[in-house]
Amino acid sequence: MTLRSFLRQLLIDNQVKRITTEVSPDLELAAVCRREFLSASGGDALLFEQVKGTSVQIAANLFGSKARLLSMLELNEKDLTRKIRTLIAAGEHDALTNLTNACNACSMDFSEPQYQYEQLTLGDIPALRSWPGERTRYLTLALTHSVSPVTGVSNLGLYRAALVAEGKIALNFAPCSDIAEHLKTAELRNESLPVALILGADPALFWAAAAPLPTGCSEYGFAAVLTGRSFTFSPCLTQPLVAPANAEIVIEGEIKPGARVKEGPFGNHTGQYVEREDCPLMEVTAIRHRHQPILPVTVVGPPPSENVQLAKLNELLLREMLLFDVPLVADLVMPKMTAFHGVAVVAVRPCSATAVTDLIRRLRTVSSLNRSRLLILVDDDINIHDFNLSWWRTLNMLAPERVITTGKGLIINATGIDRDQLVTEDRTTTALVENRHYQISKEAPENLQP
Ligand SMILES: Cc1cc2nc3c(=O)[nH]c(=O)nc-3n(C[C@H](O)[C@H](O)[C@H](O)COP(=O)(O)O)c2cc1C
Repeated sequence: MTLRSFLRQLLIDNQVKRITTEVSPDLELAAVCRREFLSASGGDALLFEQVKGTSVQIAANLFGSKARLLSMLELNEKDLTRKIRTLIAAGEHDALTNLTNACNACSMDFSEPQYQYEQLTLGDIPALRSWPGERTRYLTLALTHSVSPVTGVSNLGLYRAALVAEGKIALNFAPCSDIAEHLKTAELRNESLPVALILGADPALFWAAAAPLPTGCSEYGFAAVLTGRSFTFSPCLTQPLVAPANAEIVIEGEIKPGARVKEGPFGNHTGQYVEREDCPLMEVTAIRHRHQPILPVTVVGPPPSENVQLAKLNELLLREMLLFDVPLVADLVMPKMTAFHGVAVVAVRPCSATAVTDLIRRLRTVSSLNRSRLLILVDDDINIHDFNLSWWRTLNMLAPERVITTGKGLIINATGIDRDQLVTEDRTTTALVENRHYQISKEAPENLQP
């Protein structure tokens, strides 16, 4: 599947609005996207055919609904869950190791590049300015590919990329990301790190790049094993890297040792502008693209926002891995509004207080949770898919000794409810009510007539 074939399918399914009026990538386009996402069921995908100042088209609101996101994988939620369960159980190790082994067993094809080089400059690429306080334009769905200079292991991550000057891009990857490790290694050897930004390839790669996969797990393999699709690569022209042969645009470049730049302000998912002083700086060495390329974008900012759907897929993956590895975990939910903060509620099966302490220690080693702003543990009598219920239970159990601080985050242990004292219906009444057929009328009874 390519971005184009996906859009074509959405057009057939009547899930794309083609916008033929000229729209500016400077604030206007993001504002249109926000309104579309807030319409019924997350709105349609948007194809902006006339983007001011460029011949490049823009595809947006691709993740507006979970169903659309799942259709990028050609799976429904049940089948995706089943596939993940099969992958993480296909081995004798823990879930992550089994998954990694399955992903890395995938073979990849190579083909000759079929691209135009250097027709476009960075200035022609309609990166977005989404909020008035932003001073630079951003690529919001650039999949960043790099390779460890030592191990040769490659990584694909989704990080925001700011076009800070012609030929220069600030890449905001976190210090704990895989590419940060690659850069550190390259800089220790006083070498530049080759980088390729992939814009608009197989849509399954959006999730693969944003998913919390461990170092050494191939994101391409992950997308391939989930979708059953294969990937074909072609070599980059100016960097010792490969990129998907069907990508709409590939920006090649390198980060020279010590090259850093100020990045921001950027309107992010906390609802505030953020800035970074020491953002790694990529120097562009070539741009290759398809004829009349389409740039995929997402609008980042305060929730609700469509890209949170990606975080909800991460939640599904994490839940399945925890259920496999940690028998005490009954369920896990990451509330939509705070999923990007790693906030998670974990339902815990009946166990002793010591077992809960061990469980907390274990959860803190899980890479997606160890930087969580807030981790809440509740007993599994609560339906944690209703956050109000989790919050209600948490408040009922709250006491200073139940709150653990961990670096930047908090853990609240709200487990240990006395299950014998729970106010619940008795089974006899439940059975009686469920089996009886009540006669129901909306007419006022005679004794209530005025
Ligand atoms: C829309 C979107 C934007 C993101 N922006 C960033 C970012 O700017 N920096 C970052 O470190 N992670 C960002 N992430 C999260 C990473 O994609 C995610 O942590 C991924 O697992 C990183 O891969 P890595 O572990 O290989 O570095 C973003 C995720 C999404 C969905």
